Amino acid sequence: MFLSSSLLFLSCKEGTNQNTETAVTDENATETNAGYYQEPYRPQFHFSPEEKWMNDPNGLVYNEGIYHLFYQYYPDDIVWGPMHWGHATSEDLIHWEHQPIALYPDELGYIFSGSAVVDHRNSSGLGAEGKEPLVAIYTYHDPEKEKAQTGDHQTQGIAYSNDNGKTWVKYEGNPVIPNQGKTDFRDPKVMWHDASGKWIMSLAVGDHAEFYSSPDLKSWTYLSAFGKNAGAHGGVWECPDLIPMKVEGQDEEKWVLLISINPGGPNGGSATQYFVGEFDGTKFTTDQNETKWLDHGADNYAGVTYNNAPGEHPVFIGWMSNWNYARNTPTEKWRSAMTLPRNLHLGKDETGYFVSSRIIPAFDKITELVSEQDEIILDAPQTMEGQFDQADLTWKQNLNDNMTVKFQNDKGEYLVLLLDPERKQIVLDRRHSGKTDFHETFADKIHSMPYLPKEKTSDVRIVLDRASIEVFIDGGRHVMTEKFFPNSAFNSLQLSSSNGTAIQDFKIKSVANTWHNE
Ligand code: FRU
Repeated sequence: MFLSSSLLFLSCKEGTNQNTETAVTDENATETNAGYYQEPYRPQFHFSPEEKWMNDPNGLVYNEGIYHLFYQYYPDDIVWGPMHWGHATSEDLIHWEHQPIALYPDELGYIFSGSAVVDHRNSSGLGAEGKEPLVAIYTYHDPEKEKAQTGDHQTQGIAYSNDNGKTWVKYEGNPVIPNQGKTDFRDPKVMWHDASGKWIMSLAVGDHAEFYSSPDLKSWTYLSAFGKNAGAHGGVWECPDLIPMKVEGQDEEKWVLLISINPGGPNGGSATQYFVGEFDGTKFTTDQNETKWLDHGADNYAGVTYNNAPGEHPVFIGWMSNWNYARNTPTEKWRSAMTLPRNLHLGKDETGYFVSSRIIPAFDKITELVSEQDEIILDAPQTMEGQFDQADLTWKQNLNDNMTVKFQNDKGEYLVLLLDPERKQIVLDRRHSGKTDFHETFADKIHSMPYLPKEKTSDVRIVLDRASIEVFIDGGRHVMTEKFFPNSAFNSLQLSSSNGTAIQDFKIKSVANTWHNE
């Protein structure tokens, strides 16, 4: 049983459409400082570790009805330290169960980021009695060698599980890929490549990605490199992911390569860029000239997609933070959360290919309609009062129309989203959103993303979960994911437009807490 959030709509001030609002109350849900997953800023429907430090999602794999989420984890502190793989499982990617730590550091080093596969043919021979094992492929990071600056402190290792991820055994022949003098050499993402009948690994190597192949996940052959002269290079390349994708509504198949980069993101610090091209089993090539970002917000990093998941569209999860200030965010028991799981879609228009992100449909089952209006004419600003701390807002509007969305609390703190067709940009301003001084880069500027305004009715979706906002515009083509830390929950929403725009199909939904300890 899930309690609904405390979204209580009291009134609609000003403007022309003063419809009566439905009220949904839940007294228990208003407390923010007591109970399981009720600490200040604790996400109510995003994944966060029960306690201590978390960064990248790792080993995203679906097997026998279970979605596994492993993650970079340091169980002894709320700052980064010797890395383990934490573990959680889910049947729907929305409700998570915490599991014991899956991988501990050993004499070869810390356990850095990587992936996991279902070894369907038991190609590795690591399956018990010929069963299909789960195989995790990860980076070993040797802190001693790093200190000694030997330049070869990162290698690749594997581990296997014969009980669907409950327990793991490290392979005795580790490392499976030694280091030949490449300082940054990490984050293996492995997938089965049907056409060549081999496993393919994408690896991040400083300023480029490298591809390797293997028949058995144990012996690996270098294939090729990509990217020295492509895309953004403001920082080191990390967490690659090579994904085959069909262009929506067409038969055309392309390969999408996700590359996280830190620093050098479009709004400072960490971000994820992507390339759309071809992969022939050996080489990745693209004729893409410009840099494309999966998400222009400051807080979606190191994201990758599930292996072996059902459904037509890849499922993506990112780490909802930024290396600029991840260690400084104002939480005490735990640090950081994952993004909502998103389906990636590949589109194509006169400007080229583009990847869109859409929250997975299963999310809708934890939302509940609170208020709706067929049309709102914004010839005057319209203010709505309520608890906007667990909310899913949607509407339709013309992308040519100017629009300002402002969430505010009683302390005068606010968060603003602006669609600005004149400047051809979408802006997210968290400079006055509450606690911001924990790091100088958190609120030093407004964040923006370019877009092409056009005469087109399109959808806007905003999801708020206490300390995070995820914005999806035009079918998820324009995405911004950001954290914020208000001193009290936002309890007012103001919509305004300098050109008196009308918006349609406006809906406010509350989102249930997925962490109640029954
Ligand atoms: C990305 C990253 C990876 C690395 C891991 C270490 O955030 O730096 O490249 O494997 O985090 O925790």
